[in-house]
Amino acid sequence: MNAQTEVKADPNQKMMTSDEAMALATQDTVLTPRFYTTDFDALDAIDVSLVREEWDQLIADMVGDPNKTHFRHKDDFAGIIEGLEPELRAEFTDFLVSSMTSEFSGCVLYAEIAKRTKNPDVKQLFKLLARDESRHAGFINESLKDAGIGVDLGFLTKTKKYTYFRPKFIWYAVYLSEKIGYARYITIYRHLEKHPENKFHPIFDWFEEWCNDEFRHGEAFAMLMRADPKLLEGHNKLWIRFFLLSVYATMYVRDHARPVFHKALGVDPTEYDYEVFDICNTIARQVYPVELDIDDPKFRARMEALRQAALRIEDGKAQGGIGGLMKRASGMAGAGYNFVRMYFQRPKTHRLPAKIRLQPAW
Ligand SMILES: [Fe+2]
Ligand SMILES: [Fe+2]
Repeated sequence: MNAQTEVKADPNQKMMTSDEAMALATQDTVLTPRFYTTDFDALDAIDVSLVREEWDQLIADMVGDPNKTHFRHKDDFAGIIEGLEPELRAEFTDFLVSSMTSEFSGCVLYAEIAKRTKNPDVKQLFKLLARDESRHAGFINESLKDAGIGVDLGFLTKTKKYTYFRPKFIWYAVYLSEKIGYARYITIYRHLEKHPENKFHPIFDWFEEWCNDEFRHGEAFAMLMRADPKLLEGHNKLWIRFFLLSVYATMYVRDHARPVFHKALGVDPTEYDYEVFDICNTIARQVYPVELDIDDPKFRARMEALRQAALRIEDGKAQGGIGGLMKRASGMAGAGYNFVRMYFQRPKTHRLPAKIRLQPAW
């Protein structure tokens, strides 16, 4: 984590400015959304013939562009963020900036792959993916601009640090980020259908169709991996477990840092997170032969211990001095220890289904 670039939403502050939103979007910590780059030449060798039939159907659906007119911004967003209670406003703004950064990070990576690859299947897919993510990021940014806190996306592209990953690690990470994005949005959407009194901003009305885009994106990455079966065998199963745990742990720590936001939605962050993990685990059976046992009480206790350790790191940073340093060291050791223990818990295993494609039925 980089303490220097860390910016915290301050509930006492009257209103976040555009510069602060930018600082929030550009910060790089283990918990914040990253920008990725990869070995673009390696992508030219991708061959989807093993999954050709399902691939062509998926691409045809994406070319059909079912959400073409969905992301039209409406005037009635104006003034809503400004009208929220200060603590809720701070956490909701943090949620929007972090979601926007993650949407835009997808857009930048996908557009770059589309531009650089010579492989026609890969090029076509990534153009379609970049089209969707640019709409998603733009839509959130418009909502932030209504409150005077929009982020300059061109500037963000130039200032954000890029993390290099080999293509297979990009697939493991991005597949999960698309599917967990779907699971997060649909869980909030279904909850607000039942509790419309908790819908404190109209942006949640867009979540259902929105997350169907993310679902399709995830399908594409599932097919890319199933097209190259060795990515899902042998020692790669250890990498899959690592990515599953990293994504789940990050989400757990990050969501619990927004208690007021979840209270306003009428959602308990622990229950919400495990509902999302459950959906994500179920979907991921289409591609991952291993699954984390999230219902094991030991897993849940260790996840919570990891979160407590992450809080000690934050406390230590805020405190400073020798005492703060000790707290940080103890927090890091605790976080690492609990991560490793969860990692080595026995996973569930599956045989992969013959048919890959799923429908967003949650
Ligand atoms: Fe998206
Ligand atoms: Fe996506």
